[in-house]
This record gives sequence, structure tokens and C-alpha cells, in this order.
Amino acid sequence: MPDYLILLNHTHRLPEGFEDTITLVEAENVNGEKYRVEEKAYNAFLALREDLMENDGLQIELLSVYRDIPQQERTWARTMESKGEEYTRKYVAIPGCSEHHTGFALDVGFALNGKASHKNADLFSYEDMYQVVHKKMPKYGFILRYPADKVSITKINYEPWHFRYIDDPVIAREITDRGICFEEYHQEESK
Ligand code: DAL
Ligand code: ZN
Repeated sequence: MPDYLILLNHTHRLPEGFEDTITLVEAENVNGEKYRVEEKAYNAFLALREDLMENDGLQIELLSVYRDIPQQERTWARTMESKGEEYTRKYVAIPGCSEHHTGFALDVGFALNGKASHKNADLFSYEDMYQVVHKKMPKYGFILRYPADKVSITKINYEPWHFRYIDDPVIAREITDRGICFEEYHQEESK
């Protein structure tokens, strides 16, 4: 069983061999884009999706999930070129340090008029819809990994779309309700 509580950030790199502990399955979004995602995280995403579809009339869609280190290097380079270094450091993890290497990080958007936008500017305009989703995600084992008030700790800007699967709804609920970030959770656990 993989370590679903693993911490990855600017000071915690992906451990050697971690990717051998996960099982990736294929997924497709409304745009017909294909992704690989860790299987338990994907099942939890599907359950959350169904709940939102049935009860809130919202259709969530995957925008990016598993990325290996070369893919993250390409994301980094592309963002550097189009948006510059300051933006890139705020929104893209250093290759080797991204949660996307685990398959447990899901970038989630919405299907609107049959399409899901990848643009950060569009995603920020969906804040009201994200609020509905954020309230439900702990029940399915997800936390919001980069909260707006924790940028000084996470070193990543608020990302309403980046959901992190941790496989434990009780811990996810605790982190969410106490308003702590994943780094703070780990710090407390290591005491
Ligand atoms: N966008 C997040 C921080 C990543 O690149 O992993
Ligand atoms: Zn992400």
C-alpha cells in the first residue's frame, strides 16, 4: 500500500522508488484528454463527482493528474516561457518536488457548456463553485493542498483546483475543519 500521507513540497522531494508503490489507471475528461491517476484517488474522485452531479448540479472534471519528472520539467519550462519566473515559482512545483508525481494530486475544473477550461484565470472565476466542492471533499479523503492563507508555509499560491488525496476522511476532515495546511499537520505528527 502506498504512503498516502506522504509530504511533498519545496523541501521534500519524491523518494526514490515511490512510483513503484502506486497503481495508475487511465481516466478521460470531457475534452477527451487522457490522464493517469492513482487508482484509489480516482475512485474517490468519481464518488465525489457523482455526489456533486446529483446534489449540486456541478460537473467536476480532471485537468491534470499524474506527471512524471520529465513532464513536470516541461510544465515548468512552458510556464517560464509564457508567464515568467515569478509566476512559475508561485504555481509550479520544482520538478521532483511535485505532488503530481504521486498520482494523488488532482487538478479539478468544471464542465461548462461541454468543455473544461484549463486557464487559471477561468478557474479563479469559479470560486463559488469551488466552495461547494471544497466543503464536500474531506468526506472522500481529499484536502485542499494550497489554501489562500497558508502561502507563506506552502510557498505555492492559492490553488482552488489542486486537490490532494490522502485516503483518510477523518484526517482530511480534521485538517479542513482546523484550517491547517498539510505541512502543519506533518509538523504536529512528528512531535
Ligand atoms: N501546481 C502544483 C504546485 C504543482 O506543480 O505540483
Ligand atoms: Zn496541481
